[in-house]
Amino acid sequence: MDAHPLKLKVRSCAAETPFIRSLVFDVEDGVVPRWQAGAHVRVALPDGGDRPYSLMALPGLPGGALALGVLREEASTGGSQFMHALKVGDVVKASAPVNNFHLHENAAPALLFAGGIGITPILSMAAELTARATPFRLHYAGRAQGLLAFLPHLQEICTRELSIHYDSDESRLDIATALGDAAANCHIYVCGPAGMIEAVRAAARASIPTERMHYELFKAEQPGSPDRPFEVELKSSGQIVSVAAGQTIIQALEAAGLDVLYDCQRGDCGICQCGVLEGVPDHRDVILSDDEKASNKVMQICVSRAKSARLVLDL
Ligand code: FES
Repeated sequence: MDAHPLKLKVRSCAAETPFIRSLVFDVEDGVVPRWQAGAHVRVALPDGGDRPYSLMALPGLPGGALALGVLREEASTGGSQFMHALKVGDVVKASAPVNNFHLHENAAPALLFAGGIGITPILSMAAELTARATPFRLHYAGRAQGLLAFLPHLQEICTRELSIHYDSDESRLDIATALGDAAANCHIYVCGPAGMIEAVRAAARASIPTERMHYELFKAEQPGSPDRPFEVELKSSGQIVSVAAGQTIIQALEAAGLDVLYDCQRGDCGICQCGVLEGVPDHRDVILSDDEKASNKVMQICVSRAKSARLVLDL
């Protein structure tokens, strides 16, 4: 089965901030896919890999067009650099939309948190909640003025519900206050860096049941702290697989011809969880609790890496 059945042609692109670009595509081949807020497509990259990007319900989007927002990551191994180099008329291949970050169906209010490029699925949620007339509040946080993308679009969608926070001044996001102001029966949605997701989860743990807590990790590569290569040993066969600096464990295992079970590839679904028999993982997921991470007995092999030179995995 073709993992990337959609052929998308760049219709327009625009710089939303010095680091974030919007891309609008027409569907060249096949039926325009239906999607709902929280969905993403995986865009095929020239190196044979792919990368997930959330679909955006930008106001005024032409019928049938699909919009994505892409952060240029300086330490990128190619995905964001490739997406930022695309020009009008270029064609890419992409997966059908996948949604691991659904909005709830009932009329309960929503509290939305977005950090940085994590605004891309949250903007679509704001648009859908507005269309449904479901009450919500959106807290959008970024480092400084000029670095928050899609503000004009958000102001068009939800001026009254929108709260903007800059880390650099007194408007800084106060998660406890935001949660305290929310309705008792609200659903919470968070998309942003792992630190933001963990902070909201920790603050909400006492008052919000897990079924009303929804989050999606935006994984940025950290400039200045490049990933290091390491080795993985498989307990069942003793086979040793090298994981390169720009590879995930899953990619390295697949390149070695092994079948691996996974889904989100963002460290938030738990499908790829694997036992660790020796070595020290570098946990980068958002699904394990602090205690589970500290025990180093399991890890999510889609995003987590190694602090030791070798990991022995229960595979
Ligand atoms: S595939 Fe979802 S956590 Fe790894």
